[in-house]
Amino acid sequence: DWDLEPDTTTQDGIDLQLAASNLKESDIPVAFPTETVYGLGADATRSAAVKGIYHAKQRPSDNPLIVHIASLKQLRRLLSTSDSPSDIDPIPQIYHPLIKRFWPGPITIILPVPENSKLAPEVTAGLRTFGARMPRNLLALALIKTADVPVAAPSANASTKPSPTAAEHVRYDLDGRIELIVDGGPCDVGVESTVVDGLSSPPAVLRPGGIGIDLIKTVPGWENTAVGYHDVSMKGDAAPRAPGMKYRHYSPKAPVMLVESTGERQPSIADLARQLGTNGSLGLLHAEQVTLEDAGRSFTVWDMCIGPDTPSVARGLFSALRELDRKDVDAIIVEGIDDGEGDIAAAVMNRLRKAAEVKLEQL
Ligand code: TXA
Ligand code: MG
Repeated sequence: DWDLEPDTTTQDGIDLQLAASNLKESDIPVAFPTETVYGLGADATRSAAVKGIYHAKQRPSDNPLIVHIASLKQLRRLLSTSDSPSDIDPIPQIYHPLIKRFWPGPITIILPVPENSKLAPEVTAGLRTFGARMPRNLLALALIKTADVPVAAPSANASTKPSPTAAEHVRYDLDGRIELIVDGGPCDVGVESTVVDGLSSPPAVLRPGGIGIDLIKTVPGWENTAVGYHDVSMKGDAAPRAPGMKYRHYSPKAPVMLVESTGERQPSIADLARQLGTNGSLGLLHAEQVTLEDAGRSFTVWDMCIGPDTPSVARGLFSALRELDRKDVDAIIVEGIDDGEGDIAAAVMNRLRKAAEVKLEQL
């Protein structure tokens, strides 16, 4: 009966049935692809399963998780209470045009936690709201549908590391801590979903992401969307600068120096290397052309271009940071991109400002 043996590998074949039954029954989370980044999923209605996520990625328990659903019916089931009238849609009106336009896709909406909610309290980390999204990846949708449970999932990286945009990134971070990775190849978008709060007035973007704020503002009811997040260093004056950072996040092993520039005078790579105190090897990450001068350098530079346009930069960013890490560079210099347009560039710069932890002295 060899041909009746279920295929339990994920490298050589994807066994969604097995992944779905793990989601339903196991307390060890399952990694799966979404269009943004890989997620680390668990049944959002079972506390033990959700605790398994925090445990596997060593995530602080005060950071709430996003609930992934495969249909609006599934979301409505999660939102209705037994005594809510059946003719009123439990999904707040403000979200209807947004959902119509962007779901399935990289946008997460904040919803009130209903009374007697089926969600495990660990999902919301004590908040009275929760985030929900319908991912655009077909494997993700099939997995959620097959398991028939709402799936709580943060990004599937070890806490503080860059988010994983390929199955091998998940394996590298979580090997031995989880049992199953559904391998769907590299992610399309490369940065996480945009988190929006339509319960506040005006509505706000709480985290920039895969859908730009300019696009959100074209949706009825969302014209006055506010920026509800604060970057360590928002772009302002003309001098090149690199922000310090408070919390480690999106961070490779090597320190990251972000050079944001709007002026003409650019520092040289040698200057920056001196400030970073390195004579060894340096990773250089940039979009199209390098604008930093590289005169008189006496060290190895791993020069990595991650793309001609913003979507390619977003898609390749986390992977490039991880690749430079594997080359064991002493430090990584990243040239910022222009984020004045309210598009996905804002998400890229938000992640880079968080990853950068070196304070650049006045140049
Ligand atoms: O694209 C994504 O959103 C990916 C994929 C896997 O779907 N997920 C992801 O999850 O990035 P995570 O846990 O790494 O980030 C969730 C973000 C956090 O910034 C969290 O603080 C915020 O969403 N969040 C979750 N619930 C919230 C709530 N009720 N109110 C405000 N922010 C919330
Ligand atoms: Mg994350």
